[in-house]
Amino acid sequence: MIDNKTIVLTGASSGIGFEVLKLLAQGKGNRILAVARHVDNIKYFADNVTAWPCDISTQAGVDALFRKAEELFGIIDIFYANAGFPYYEEFNYTDWDRIDAMFRTNTISPIYTYAKYIAHLNGRAGILAYTVSAIGEMAMPGYAIYSSSKFALNGFQQAIRMEKPDNLQITCLYPVATDTNFFKVANAVEFEKPFPVQKPSTVAKKMVKGIEEGAERVSPCGLFGLSKVLMGALPPVKTVYLNMEKAKLERFKQKLSQYHNRLHADAAAAVEHGRELGSQIREKNREVVGELEERAEKVRGEIEEKAAKAREEIKDRIHGV
Ligand SMILES: NC(=O)c1ccc[n+]([C@@H]2O[C@H](COP(=O)([O-])OP(=O)(O)OC[C@H]3O[C@@H](n4cnc5c(N)ncnc54)[C@H](OP(=O)(O)O)[C@@H]3O)[C@@H](O)[C@H]2O)c1
Repeated sequence: MIDNKTIVLTGASSGIGFEVLKLLAQGKGNRILAVARHVDNIKYFADNVTAWPCDISTQAGVDALFRKAEELFGIIDIFYANAGFPYYEEFNYTDWDRIDAMFRTNTISPIYTYAKYIAHLNGRAGILAYTVSAIGEMAMPGYAIYSSSKFALNGFQQAIRMEKPDNLQITCLYPVATDTNFFKVANAVEFEKPFPVQKPSTVAKKMVKGIEEGAERVSPCGLFGLSKVLMGALPPVKTVYLNMEKAKLERFKQKLSQYHNRLHADAAAAVEHGRELGSQIREKNREVVGELEERAEKVRGEIEEKAAKAREEIKDRIHGV
């Protein structure tokens, strides 16, 4: 159990981060600054938890987060940079901003956080935790941008371990597929998750234990470690596994194209319906205008008739005088 610590936890509102938050909040004397862009669901989580909305994908966001933590705690004993998100897709576009958004959140923000945290500690003991990913060690089809963002973070933590001061512990988590919002965020169209899938509570328990024990890396799925050894010794096993994942991507692409076709068909039907409505409205308009003109003609006739009558009466009266 982690006790008597001041802790910053990003990505605390959901999934792995939320399960970590539950465990840390139980620790005696812990105080936690729990961060996500939307924190409504953790606002009143516990007395020792301060929920704070913050976008960690910008320098201003991370700087503000350090200021807030320093204001609350003075010293940050543990900084857990867990926030991150995936895309599941065929990488076939030239959208700079889309690529940039992922690297800002998954890679640049945790790297920048390291430098900020070292400066904050100023020689004091501290723990920096990262949620990397099994996909940051083994690339997967459908996750090209996500994989590369996590490979980059993994490369950073490997290199920085050789430079970091002794007062800093770095603990990295390498989850396999974990049943969180991750897969909803990755694509609006549902897709098959990679094998195997773990519960976020299992992953969180192992990570909290790893942080407490000073582990450098936490691989919550034993099967992944075993299969890495097996795939290293027997490369065809890796080929079979990755072919399974490629087949999933192919099925997803077909599903996506059916989905797009359906959207196009729905859009075309909506346009056709709009056209039909337009012509009905024009027809109705013509009818109404026709009726109004007829009525106006009738009223004009009646007025002219009354005016003629009035003229006659006036004439009669003048003659009578
Ligand atoms: N689930 C998996 O299969 C899996 C596998 C390997 C690694 N991971 C990694 O595990 C970490 C946690 O993911 P999860 O599976 O728990 O997914 P999740 O349920 O979607 O949680 C992601 C959390 O990060 C927050 N977040 C995202 N972008 C943010 C930003 N710019 N600023 C602040 N907070 C942000 C989200 O809240 P808001 O949207 O409100 O900001 C949410 O609290 C991520 O780094 C992910 O890459 C997940």
